Amino acid sequence: MAATTETPFTGASAKGPFTTTPSATDPYTYQVGFGNRFATEALPHALPQGCNTPQKCKYDLFSEQLNGTPFISPRASLLHAWFYRIRPSVAHKPFKKMPKNPDLEATFSPLNPNVDFTPQDLGWSKFELPQQSESVDFVQGLKTIAGYGDPTLKEGIAVHIYLANTPMKKKSFCNNDGDMLILPQEGRLDIQTEFGKMMVRPGELVVIQAGIRFTVGLPDGVGRGYIQEIYGAHYELPELGPIGSNGMALPRDFEIPVASFEVDQSTWEMVVKLAGELFVYEQDHTPYDVVAWHGNYAPYKYAMEKFISSATVDRDQSDPSIYCVLTAKSKIPGVSLSDFLVFTPKWCVTRNTFRPPYYHRNVATELMGMMYGQWAGSATQLEPGGLTYEPSYMPHGESYSRWKEATTVDLQPQRIGEGAMAFMMHISAHMGLTKFALERSGTLQPIPEDTWDGFHASFLNHLEEAKSGLESCK
Ligand SMILES: [Fe+2]
Repeated sequence: MAATTETPFTGASAKGPFTTTPSATDPYTYQVGFGNRFATEALPHALPQGCNTPQKCKYDLFSEQLNGTPFISPRASLLHAWFYRIRPSVAHKPFKKMPKNPDLEATFSPLNPNVDFTPQDLGWSKFELPQQSESVDFVQGLKTIAGYGDPTLKEGIAVHIYLANTPMKKKSFCNNDGDMLILPQEGRLDIQTEFGKMMVRPGELVVIQAGIRFTVGLPDGVGRGYIQEIYGAHYELPELGPIGSNGMALPRDFEIPVASFEVDQSTWEMVVKLAGELFVYEQDHTPYDVVAWHGNYAPYKYAMEKFISSATVDRDQSDPSIYCVLTAKSKIPGVSLSDFLVFTPKWCVTRNTFRPPYYHRNVATELMGMMYGQWAGSATQLEPGGLTYEPSYMPHGESYSRWKEATTVDLQPQRIGEGAMAFMMHISAHMGLTKFALERSGTLQPIPEDTWDGFHASFLNHLEEAKSGLESCK
């Protein structure tokens, strides 16, 4: 008898939905799927069935909703989650304002004396971690580089770095200003959230939306990385257009935590960022007491090595938007707040093509950083943990020697970017740079006078030929 007719396979199924398997560098399990509606419980039957607010929840849990969009947003854009927790979040002491962090900025108007605008392209070497003699956690180590807009207007963006050497202890952070896209560059982040736990390594991104509490541990002892914070919008996957339903960042590669709770009745320090200012209150229990949750407003992570590049395969160049992982809409229809691009190893196979990035002037401000590896560009000094800045509409491209090489080389299929990962934030605005970035970081690179001096106008060698060409038109 054939094996397929044997009864053990009748209705065969794995039990439960797909979750990831822990690895050597990440002990946690995740649900998958960008934008899905998830349901997860750390105790059986803790999620109510058929309603969100039963008269009495199982285990005497409290029901609590978190909205990431207004109630009557279109259904396709509604973002919210229901928590079933040991105590409601409202059980806390009054707020106190914290001393101002002079390196943290949220308002990027030219009227702000802490912000300057410049058409000069700039670069920063690797931002230095704190000295061992000082103890700096993730929140204390936030330093704003640039931004535009204002969180009170729900429009704009801030780009920060974080430089930390100490885990947050009995301390939680909640950013009410915007969603944070966090990019570890050195050291993993062990992030505990109300939704569960996430381990994020260099090469992965994590998005923690506005209003969500989280605590950052540093299992590798230090943490350096980049943050793009967006005001008044949420990250989306870019439309795929003619690419079709496959390619770029695949929705199922986004990983979302499973419910995980603790019983902890010690004192916790709760830090809230509002309009760039920090406030703090105490509560007599952990904020990580969510026994079950469901919804689609939840943090997620993504391993950027999984990004599927879909670039030109015959001749000419695609615009860099082909490397867009996540995008966010501005209030202007058709204009992004920011497109977040990642550059991973790929084949370059084009014929009769100038293969390096073409010379260009771009409406967007471009901020680039590196997770690891070596940057192949010739005119920009970029190293892992550093940053470059190209202002809106200012020209940039490769050096003359790179141009000469690229216009004469025998073009063969070539693997490029092996062992490297870089990113670009394509931000549709003028960006204000902070005093920290321009004066206090200590890593701002000097601006060489002669960077662009070497260009030869070889056209001048063709004047006779050009004259003949004109003559032939008469
Ligand atoms: Fe550019």
